[in-house]
Amino acid sequence: MAAAAAFAADTFANLVGLVRRHTGIAMNERKGALLEGRLGRRMRELAMHRYEDYLELVEAGGAEVQVFIDMVTTNDTAFFRTPAVWSYIAGEFLPAWHAAHPGQCLRIWSAAAASGEEAYSAAMLCEQFRLRHPGFRYQIVGTDISTAVVARAQAGIYAGRSAERLRASYPHFVAQYFRAQDESLSVASELKSGVQFSVQNLFAPPKAGLRYDLVLLRNVMIYFDEENQRKVLAKVQACMAPDARLILGEGRAGIDHPARHLAGVPSGPCLRRRGRLMAATLLRVATGELRIGRGQEVLSALLGSCVGVGMLWPEGGCCGLAHCLLPESPEPGTRMGARYVNHAVPSLLAMMGVRAQDRHQVQVILAGGARMLGRSGISSAIGQLNIDAAHKALAAHGLVLAHIEAGGRRGRTLSVDCARRSYEVRPISTEFDHART
Ligand SMILES: C[S@@+](CC[C@H](N)C(=O)[O-])C[C@H]1O[C@@H](n2cnc3c(N)ncnc32)[C@H](O)[C@@H]1O
Repeated sequence: MAAAAAFAADTFANLVGLVRRHTGIAMNERKGALLEGRLGRRMRELAMHRYEDYLELVEAGGAEVQVFIDMVTTNDTAFFRTPAVWSYIAGEFLPAWHAAHPGQCLRIWSAAAASGEEAYSAAMLCEQFRLRHPGFRYQIVGTDISTAVVARAQAGIYAGRSAERLRASYPHFVAQYFRAQDESLSVASELKSGVQFSVQNLFAPPKAGLRYDLVLLRNVMIYFDEENQRKVLAKVQACMAPDARLILGEGRAGIDHPARHLAGVPSGPCLRRRGRLMAATLLRVATGELRIGRGQEVLSALLGSCVGVGMLWPEGGCCGLAHCLLPESPEPGTRMGARYVNHAVPSLLAMMGVRAQDRHQVQVILAGGARMLGRSGISSAIGQLNIDAAHKALAAHGLVLAHIEAGGRRGRTLSVDCARRSYEVRPISTEFDHART
């Protein structure tokens, strides 16, 4: 690696390693000048003269680690950043979600929320929606790795560019949801009460039982390399309700829209490709569920010992995915459903409308069936039993496997992309190499 700015090559490599270890962010030499400025300021505060000494202090792992994280993260954000995203949320997502979930409370996660503008933008749209639908309830959670920006989000006081832009473009929202405080704008308590912020690393294991209906993961994936993008997407996936939507950021072409990774992830509507905001709905298929996809839909299942049976039928314009928990039903006969492999295969064929004479056109993918760690007896063997049952059921219906990735000890995601007529099986990383929460 070439040395950047005033750093010696070794020091810069060490610095890049520390940034990656604590935040997952991949830095390169172009960030050298930026890091030099930020570290320099901190070193002056600490009366330190050598970068090496400062990095040693961070390596020691004490309180300086959080200062370091706050320093190396880039926290640019804005209210209603990229209006097309917010038009989608107000005009499509909220009405559709409310209609499909009567009486339920909508849960939104602004992941990598920075100073909170994104989460409060979502709250304003929810409040507007509530005016028209009085029974509507929502909760918004904003998280970020930087304690400094989380504190600003919690305070909810905005000055400078954020406040200026909001005043200029959304004066009606300012009047409704903010209180003027000298030059700054303070979020009104009605809006604040629906939004909570906390410090959270995207690489940390997700809290058990969390299920968000809408996840905003915007303008952060650009900072990660491919491997880390995949890890984050897998963790986000684990926190999403089965029909949740994931909104990835918009920005420079390509990297912050890892569309190729999206195929391994459930949900979400807004990806921008070639400068256009495109609709691509990626739907998570939960345990025991089966789904049929059409048009732009991508179906995805997160599999451990369960098996996923995917089907692509381009001639019929659809795809299907079953997420099966158990091999063969003890009850005789065929029932619609995906809990048992032997029910899932005929159920998928029936729901997709595949007739006996069409079966040769269907591409079948089988994945999952891992031997999960820490299990014993029947539960450790269930993966293999599921795989065997899938082979048997597919053969019984005259279906030939196009691809199989099954068994072993690692979980996988199986995604079936209806529009691109493609599928993807990816191993799920089990290691957690980021020490912080
Ligand atoms: C450019 S801001 C994006 C803010 C907002 N999502 C938006 O689109 O306007 C990126 C944010 O990601 C946060 N971030 C970077 N790495 C992170 C990680 N590993 N876990 C959680 N947040 C992270 C940074 O602290 C920063 O606030």
